[in-house]
Amino acid sequence: MRNHKKIFLALIGIAAVLSACDDGKIYEESIHVEREGGSVRLTGQIEGNHDWASGYSIVLAGFSSDSEYAKTAKGITTNEDGSMDIVLSGIPSEVTSIEICAINRLRKRIARFYSFDYTEQEDTIRIDAGNVDASMFNSIQTNVFDRTCINCHGGSTTAAAGLYLTDGKSYDALVNVPADKSPDQMFFVTPGNSEESFLHLTLNTDISADWGMDHIDMITSSDLLKLIDDWIDNGAKK
Ligand code: HEC
Repeated sequence: MRNHKKIFLALIGIAAVLSACDDGKIYEESIHVEREGGSVRLTGQIEGNHDWASGYSIVLAGFSSDSEYAKTAKGITTNEDGSMDIVLSGIPSEVTSIEICAINRLRKRIARFYSFDYTEQEDTIRIDAGNVDASMFNSIQTNVFDRTCINCHGGSTTAAAGLYLTDGKSYDALVNVPADKSPDQMFFVTPGNSEESFLHLTLNTDISADWGMDHIDMITSSDLLKLIDDWIDNGAKK
């Protein structure tokens, strides 16, 4: 009887310790896949890494060339001035690139901000990443607008529908700005409400069917569509 009580109390103790550790941050500690292997010491300045929606982590991570899931990852912590000094050790041998990136809860890479080639090293290598803009909006700019939209929206001489989605112009063109194509003047981006954002409707519904340029299949990655919605719902921060 006594022993049962002790075990029961011990279990409660363990549960309390575990729940106390759960502060919502998913990659505070490094995940050591194996002990041997090289390590990387990364320095630099980073901004925008605190403004991400929940479900994402900004990490220093190792990837192999055949997978978009991190083999090892460590949450990026910064000093008050935004400087970072991070050591990622025990890097598994299959890792071929080290990156500053955003991963989701499954450790899948959603956006990459900085990367360098990595072939197995026994010693610590030092990397200076310089200035890194790891904001949620910058990840949309580079992964969505720069890749898929600016050919027609401002990268050349004219912007379709007068909508500039180029770096430096896109944010002010979208956030709290009424869309011409919207019958009820819905904003392109209504901070906090992706469902009431014309950008969301443009990319996720057939609303553009009669514009002369169908937009519904332009972004097929569900991760990127979710990233845009999560950015809007998280307040559409710059
Ligand atoms: C191949 C050219 C092309 C590409 C690429 C393109 N668009 Fe468009 N876009 C257009 C055209 C054409 C229109 C409608 C212009 C008109 O009828 O005045 C339009 C209109 C829009 C509108 C409505 C503008 C308004 O004023 O209401 C939005 C929003 C939009 N595009 C977003 C995007 C986004 C986001 C991307 C990238 C994922 C993108 N577009 C990629 C050609 C393009």
